[in-house]
Amino acid sequence: MCGIVGYTGNAPAVPVLLDGLERLEYRGYDSAGVAVVSRERGLQIEKCKGRLSALREKLDGQPPLAGTAGIGHTRWATHGEPNDVNSHPHVSQNGRVAIVHNGIIENYVEIKEFLLHKGVAFRSDTDSEVVAQLLEYCFNDHSDPLDAVYAVLERLEGAYALGILCADRPDMLIAARKDAPLLLGYGDGESFIASDATAIIAHTRDVAYMEDGEVAVLTRAGVQVFDEYRRPIEKEHHFIEWDVSAAEKGGYAHFMFKEIMEQPEALRQTISPRLRDGRVVFEELHITAEDVRRFRRIFIVACGSSYHVGMVGKYNLERLMRTPVEVALASEFRYSDPLIDKDSLVIVISQSGETLDTMAALREARNRGAYVLSIVNVVGSSIARESDDVLYTWAGPEIAVATTKAYSTQLALLTMLGLWMARCLDRVEQTEYDAVVSELEALPAKLAEVVSSTEIYQYLASLYFNQECIFYIGRNLDYALGLEGSLKLKEISYIHSESYAAGELKHGTISLIEQGTLVMSLATYGPLLDKAVSNIVEVKSRGADVVALTTEEHRQRLEAIASHVLTIPRTHPVLQPNLGVVPLQLFAYYIALHRGCDIDKPKNLAKSVTVE
Ligand code: M6R
Repeated sequence: MCGIVGYTGNAPAVPVLLDGLERLEYRGYDSAGVAVVSRERGLQIEKCKGRLSALREKLDGQPPLAGTAGIGHTRWATHGEPNDVNSHPHVSQNGRVAIVHNGIIENYVEIKEFLLHKGVAFRSDTDSEVVAQLLEYCFNDHSDPLDAVYAVLERLEGAYALGILCADRPDMLIAARKDAPLLLGYGDGESFIASDATAIIAHTRDVAYMEDGEVAVLTRAGVQVFDEYRRPIEKEHHFIEWDVSAAEKGGYAHFMFKEIMEQPEALRQTISPRLRDGRVVFEELHITAEDVRRFRRIFIVACGSSYHVGMVGKYNLERLMRTPVEVALASEFRYSDPLIDKDSLVIVISQSGETLDTMAALREARNRGAYVLSIVNVVGSSIARESDDVLYTWAGPEIAVATTKAYSTQLALLTMLGLWMARCLDRVEQTEYDAVVSELEALPAKLAEVVSSTEIYQYLASLYFNQECIFYIGRNLDYALGLEGSLKLKEISYIHSESYAAGELKHGTISLIEQGTLVMSLATYGPLLDKAVSNIVEVKSRGADVVALTTEEHRQRLEAIASHVLTIPRTHPVLQPNLGVVPLQLFAYYIALHRGCDIDKPKNLAKSVTVE
């Protein structure tokens, strides 16, 4: 989705902005632009459709834009097609103001009509341009830029993170936020804004997260922040724990591959601090054992891969806690008039902590009195801040659009949460509890074993990269795992793929199996191995090629029937998907590599989905 970076200081702004935009590329975008301001030359803007390299080329072919304050933007089109004119920054009719905007101005038609009546000429088809035009219009009544900004914000409906430059204030940058992430960065004689810390991490790790309704005025002398009533406020500073190298490829061809390889360490960081003397300990949680006993219903709400984590979680939490758990897609949940009340626990899962549908579901749950506990990767993100409790997955920054290490850490943390709640309810046998804890301790090492050799996945990808469609089948936890394997494959390789509960094949899907169809049969869930074997025979006898994924002790049995067998070490059943997902990630990765796809930035996708 769209990205924002802004700078004011003593250095030329353009290189800082371009570097920041490059670091935001992973979020997905279709056009990019920068604006800078100087006393001599006023506002100068360059923007264009396409990759950042196109913008760089345009900038290289002209005299440098001059100014030590500026704003930059990567756009992911919502209102108006991706083209040069619709790209940000947008500048007002008489060139007094330039803005970058993330989010959607819902009442832009009404504002546009009002301004058209006043004789304002619009250039773009975007909702965002109204902000620039309205600001200039408000300058007629307010000579102080901050007065004008507040007058504009009063009229805006919808979501916005805004970066604003004024032609006559060449060292000043104004930022405003409502329902779209924006953070402030504090440097030495310089200040920054960014929609995501990765954009400014090379310059500062000292940040503050803006809250809804806040407005910030940044100059090289520092940052002043005001609340919605324009009262000055002191922001709490946060130190970003990871450094710039965590957001760089470090010699790997792709971020996705690097992040797959980082999974053992990410799991170690997530699990180890929460295991003590053979027990799961969540020091960061406010929720008590008494609260857990009060909950009559548990919901897990998320989107995409985070939803798939929830699917695994349902099986695991119900097994450990013997409490019914419902999993819902956030985009459905928010409009479903959900049956939740103050005795409900809603577990919200999100890597970015900014997914709009998930955020809306969270608010819906809180409005109805539920207790919301979120599992989030990005510290200080909106979802983390609006939850009653938050458990952070310490996966570090995840840059590839296709999630890998965030999925793995979410999975482990949700299972740990289930185990902890089961203990609160006194519903888990001590032997089972001890077995899960001991396998949690061993999990990073077992995962390291899985990622240590990749040849088999490369080989299989070389055989199957031309398939038109690939099916994933499995039962119980393997069904939930297949959903993620299938999504991974389709999002980065663009091969059509479906995931089915294997028992459903005979109810329709099996008609799609023909000579040469590739079926990934997931058979890691020991108790249902016989059933998995029957399903493999079923599809083989209709001509399918079968790649089976199982645990080491079942290799021989599956080699007798499948075309190829992938194995993973055995662990406790509730943790088996944590090992099972890695071969599926690697298979998808190598297939996409063979097909020459843009693995880290798949077409049409964005890393953080901040629109509905
Ligand atoms: O940041 P979130 O976890 O809330 O994101 C949810 C989905 O958009 C995300 O998991 C998406 O499905 C990924 N591209 C999957 O790889």
